[in-house]
Amino acid sequence: MKEPMIFDHPLIKHKITLLRDKDTGTKEFRKLVEEISMLMAYEALRDLPTELVQVRTPICDSMQPVLSGKKAAVVPILRAGLGMTGGILSLLPGAKVGHIGLYRDETTHEPHEYLSKLPGDLDKRIVIVTDPMLATGGSAAAAIDLLKGKGCTQIKFMCIIAAPEGLERLRTAHPDIEIYVGALDECLNDDAYIVPGLGDAGDRIFGTFAQD
Ligand code: PRP
Ligand code: URA
Repeated sequence: MKEPMIFDHPLIKHKITLLRDKDTGTKEFRKLVEEISMLMAYEALRDLPTELVQVRTPICDSMQPVLSGKKAAVVPILRAGLGMTGGILSLLPGAKVGHIGLYRDETTHEPHEYLSKLPGDLDKRIVIVTDPMLATGGSAAAAIDLLKGKGCTQIKFMCIIAAPEGLERLRTAHPDIEIYVGALDECLNDDAYIVPGLGDAGDRIFGTFAQD
């Protein structure tokens, strides 16, 4: 079983603290999610393969590295995972994007699929699955079940905040994937929200609150 990477970087910590603040508004929240995702992706993509190509500098010809091998795809789990795609695409502008729509039943907390729109060649790509919140782990595990069913073999899962319960469930269900976690929180509450967490990530990214 691969060890998850729990980030320990002051920039990521600082930005996640701002995300947690209930007074952080939608516009800033969205920007922070994107920035954190870019910082996390920088590290998560450290093992991308490279090959040497010839380049002519103003001084001489030289062999230098460029990205090679498997191309990447980003697959956000809707809705909240969408907030993370921009940050990753700023590093990998050529990546394809697939979408998996899941919502959590309010009572059982089990995920329900309502959409799956994926690139046809996903099985040949490195797939980066995004969702800011790993709570019970049900949504992430279901999304990865679906991707494996489509033949995907190299999967990286990125979340901004995880609960220990969800991390354990995802690791047990999918011991082969790489997991990147911005912050590991204390626990889940009775409504399966992460404590201290940041509340409902989808509502905070898209500004959909009960009073609207
Ligand atoms: C949230 C979140 C995750 C899921 C995490 O989505 O974005 O997808 O819950 O919970 P889990 O680990 O217990 O499955 P939600 O179902 O609220 O949908 P939304 O993104 O559309 O708001
Ligand atoms: N989904 C969220 O958006 N937040 C949580 O704390 C748990 C699930």
